[in-house]
Amino acid sequence: MQEGADLLIKNASELVTLAGDNSKPRVKEHMTELGVIKGGSVAVSGGGIVAVGKTENVEQKVNITSDTRIIDAQGKTVMPGFVDPHTHLIFAGFREDELKLKLEGKTYLDILNMGGGILRTVRETRKASKEELLSNAERTLARMLCYGTTTVEAKSGYGLETETEIKCLEVIKYLNENHVMDLIPTFLGAHAIPPEYKEDVDGYVNLVVEETLPEVAEKKLAEFCDVFCEKGVFSVEQSRKILMKGKEHGFRPKIHADEIVQLGGTELAAEVEAISASHLVKSSDEGIKSMAEKEVIGVLVPGTPFALMQKEYPRARFMIDSGVPVALATDFNPNCWTESMQFMIALACYNMGMLPSEAIVASTINAAHAINRAQEIGSLEVGKEADIIILDCPNHMHIPYRFGGNLVETVVKDGKIDVGESK
Ligand code: NIG
Ligand code: FE
Repeated sequence: MQEGADLLIKNASELVTLAGDNSKPRVKEHMTELGVIKGGSVAVSGGGIVAVGKTENVEQKVNITSDTRIIDAQGKTVMPGFVDPHTHLIFAGFREDELKLKLEGKTYLDILNMGGGILRTVRETRKASKEELLSNAERTLARMLCYGTTTVEAKSGYGLETETEIKCLEVIKYLNENHVMDLIPTFLGAHAIPPEYKEDVDGYVNLVVEETLPEVAEKKLAEFCDVFCEKGVFSVEQSRKILMKGKEHGFRPKIHADEIVQLGGTELAAEVEAISASHLVKSSDEGIKSMAEKEVIGVLVPGTPFALMQKEYPRARFMIDSGVPVALATDFNPNCWTESMQFMIALACYNMGMLPSEAIVASTINAAHAINRAQEIGSLEVGKEADIIILDCPNHMHIPYRFGGNLVETVVKDGKIDVGESK
């Protein structure tokens, strides 16, 4: 019996399947393997992928009826939807005026110490209603979808008190259940030191491990636990305490490490067997090698040094050559306001020396591994979810080449067309 298809996307100039061994994230030269099929097709039924291959083979394999929606992708690139594995989606307000401070030479930590930065967003997020947070996030998710992102990880972290952290995680849960986008929740209670605990950081760490974490676990509001391990924020010891306690509650660790000062967060990521570590601008060679050994994914966020006007970016080339599986993410937050994974791919190539193929692996299958979803998404393979994007360009190399715009013209989410003229 042939499988019936509700949707057939055919004749793609490049069908970038990313097919391969999904048991582990891709490393080294495997990060260049895109599984491109020229003149390729993908057939979808009931929200899942039922056939992938050369157009003539797919057309023979599936049952095409008068109800099958057919999209001709001649001259276009078809690939899995982008996976954004690091965002701070839920917050209130803006921080557009901080750009002037940065231009005057103030650093990220200067602005934070002045009560701005994360702390300003915390004040506004604490005051905001759930409805307000929801409507802000919906607008962001709509833009992400237009740019081709079909799954996002979303962190809490602008509450810094149990009640508001729970409020933000509940908004993420609601969106995951009611919005077309898939959201993967991460608890980041230790994102900054709340003003009430300025003189008693250990006191706040105790609150996180004794009160907030257990409540997040009991309400099943997160899959991962993250920490901002940085000088003047949470030390390696404090971060270890939170991440280990999170593990006891079943949350796999993630970490913001060695962004501004080399503190040893990279080594800690390996020690606690984090699923991923981010930033890593100042990581030591040893730290990077220990990540490779423990298969910790480096989720690199080049939008952040860009927004901070820094010359220094994470050493992606050294990481890839050392065997670290690398992924890319927007780090969407009020300091780094970008919804575009296409722009991250461009920054990865122009400022971190990554090849276009590596940047695409990093934005799809490796990004799916970074949120433990590589069996479901991140590649176009039979049995995976039908999260597919069509780009108005003949091959994948155009994505970084034509930077700053949006090449995505159609987005298929769970087998249904969500963005695109042909909706
Ligand atoms: O990943 N570095 C810490 N946290 C965020 C920034 C959050 C903010 O500035 O609001 C980041 O870049
Ligand atoms: Fe972040």
